[in-house]
Amino acid sequence: MITGKTRLFGVIADPIHHVRAPQMLNPLFLDWGVDAVLVPFHVPPGRLADAVAGFKAFPNLGGFAVTIPHKESMHALCDDLDQTARRVGAVNCVRREPDGRLIGAMFDGSGFIAGMRAHGFEPRGQKTLLLGAGGAAAAIAFALADEGVARLVIANRTISKAQDMAARVAAAVPGVPVAAGPADPAGFDLIINATSVGLKAGDPPPLDPDRLDPASLVAEIIMDPEMTPLLAAAKARGCRIHFGRPMLAEQLKLIGSFMMGT
Ligand code: ATR
Repeated sequence: MITGKTRLFGVIADPIHHVRAPQMLNPLFLDWGVDAVLVPFHVPPGRLADAVAGFKAFPNLGGFAVTIPHKESMHALCDDLDQTARRVGAVNCVRREPDGRLIGAMFDGSGFIAGMRAHGFEPRGQKTLLLGAGGAAAAIAFALADEGVARLVIANRTISKAQDMAARVAAAVPGVPVAAGPADPAGFDLIINATSVGLKAGDPPPLDPDRLDPASLVAEIIMDPEMTPLLAAAKARGCRIHFGRPMLAEQLKLIGSFMMGT
């Protein structure tokens, strides 16, 4: 039952109809026994600053999740950032402190790692190829390095972005070899697609499946479709595969507890 005492949480996006945070986080609030509700806020890009000024004014607002296209612009509007959000340059979650200050955090990377572990896969010590150099890929790259992968190669259509990201991760996490490289999966234990290739029907796999080693684990961050062209090709090669959905499921638990301040 929503009452005057219920704490309010949100998710901001544009478009808004596809968000999954309400249907995934509200049951968690019930499980946790907290008097809270999370609702969708449709915030067009040009109105983000207005929306944020409004959020600061609501003492009963606990925080909000942030998704496309606001992750980077919201980063600049936070009053403070956790270490990951600062490194990655984007936020996907904001907590409102009692004094109205907004603290940003980024859980794409830790959510991905937690999703792998929830399915029995361990990134530590793995030779890892990461496809993509956008916001989600950056968060995952820092998290993989923090977890101690044996080495990390970042492949991207725009090579300069992969090189830049590799340099930033290498500087932040000394001790893990990180480099930009081609999207060639041969010789890697773990291959992760963090590009948007596979979202649209008819997309090709983002690498040559004939180069996949059947001993590799191939992971996605795309949730819909669940079986992307990459995962289908990897499965046909005999590889183990890891779907995109666990990243969100695990991440929402992290986002929920961050927004709650627990
Ligand atoms: P997100 O926030 O989800 O990471 P993004 O920052 O727009 O989204 O990043 C999308 C990623 O998918 C990028 O790595 C992008 O490559 P570029 O940096 O070269 O743009 C990659 N990507 C998108 N469309 C692609 C395509 N058709 N072929 C290869 N890579 C593609």
